[in-house]
Amino acid sequence: MILEASTSNIQKAGLAIRAGYLVAFPTETVYGVGADAFNPTAVEAIYALKGRPSSNPLIVHIASLEWLPQLTGPLSAQQQQWLAKLTPLWPGPLSLVLPRNVSVPSIVSAGHPTIAIRMPRHTLAQEFLRASGTPVAAPSANRSNYISPTTAAHVQAEFGEALPIILDGGPCAVGIESTVLSLVGPIPKLLRLGSVSYSALQALLGEVEPPDTASTQTISPGMGAKHYSPRTALQYVGSSPAPGGKRMGLIRFDAQPVEATLKPEKICTLSEAGDPEEIACRLYAALRELDDLGLDLILVDRCARTGVGAAIMDRLDRAMAL
Ligand code: TXA
Ligand code: MG
Repeated sequence: MILEASTSNIQKAGLAIRAGYLVAFPTETVYGVGADAFNPTAVEAIYALKGRPSSNPLIVHIASLEWLPQLTGPLSAQQQQWLAKLTPLWPGPLSLVLPRNVSVPSIVSAGHPTIAIRMPRHTLAQEFLRASGTPVAAPSANRSNYISPTTAAHVQAEFGEALPIILDGGPCAVGIESTVLSLVGPIPKLLRLGSVSYSALQALLGEVEPPDTASTQTISPGMGAKHYSPRTALQYVGSSPAPGGKRMGLIRFDAQPVEATLKPEKICTLSEAGDPEEIACRLYAALRELDDLGLDLILVDRCARTGVGAAIMDRLDRAMAL
C-alpha cells in the first residue's frame, strides 16, 4: 500500500524493518525494497519477492558514516584514502564495494566477501533509515530484470498488496540507478555507470578502471548483458528501417520533429532542450508508460555517451540486448 511520507508512517516503516518485514522507499535514484541487513530471513524475502537470482548481491543503505564500520571488514590504508576522497560524494547516487564485515549475513552479498554500500541523499530515505536504526539492504523495487521504479505507483504496479508499506517520496530526481565503484582491487573499478560519472571519479581518485562487460559480470552479477528490459521490443531510432504496419511508440530525447517515415501512436518527449539529466530522470517512467500500451515496438533516441549520457546509453543497450 502506498503511504504518504508523514512522521508516523516513517516511524511505522522503521518499526516494520526492525520486525523483519520489507518496506519500499524512495531514493534520489530509484525506489528500493529494503530489509534489515542483519536479518538473513528478511533479506531472503527480498530475493523471493523479486525473483532475483541468489547470485546477485544487494546494496546496503546507511544514514550516516558512523554506520559504516559495522558493515566493512578491515580496510587497507589505500582503501581508507580512497574512501576519504569519495565520501564528499555521500550522501548521493554512488555505491562503494568494500570488504564485508564478517558479522553481516553473507546472503546480503550473495556469498561474496565484499559489500556494496550507499548513503542516499533523498531526505525521506534518510529519515526512513534513521527510523529503522539499522543498515537496510535494498535492491531496486522491481521484479528481476524489469525496469526500475521511479515513483511509488511503479512499485505498487510491480508488487501490488505484497508490499504493505510503500513510502511515497514523489518521483525520483536522478531516475537511474547509482554508480557502483569497487574499491577492493589494486585500482578502483567502475562496475556500473550512473549519474556520478567516470570522469568525476577520475578527477577525485586519479586512475579508475572503466567498466568492461565481460569481467564486470563475474564481479557484479547484476550487470548481465540483458537487464532493465520492457516486455515490448525496443530499438534505437534509425537502427533499422522503420517497419511498416507496426504499432509504435517513440521516446524522444528533445523537441526535434518526428521523422516523416515514423508514425508513432504515442510520443514521450523527455526533455525539450535535450538535457541529459532530465532525460535520465524521465526515461524509466516513459518506458513503463509505453510498455503498458501493448505496442509492437518502442523506438528510442540516442545521446552522447558522456557524463550521465553514458549511463543512459548503458541502460538502453542492456534493455535491448537479446
Ligand atoms: O540506485 C541504486 O543503486 C538502487 C537504490 C535502491 O539504491 N539500488 C539498486 O540495486 O539498483 P540493484 O540490486 O538493483 O543493483 C545492485 C547492483 C547490481 O548490479 C549488483 O550486482 C551490484 O550492485 N552489487 C551489489 N553488491 C555488490 C558487490 N558486493 N560486489 C559487486 N557488485 C555488487
Ligand atoms: Mg535492479
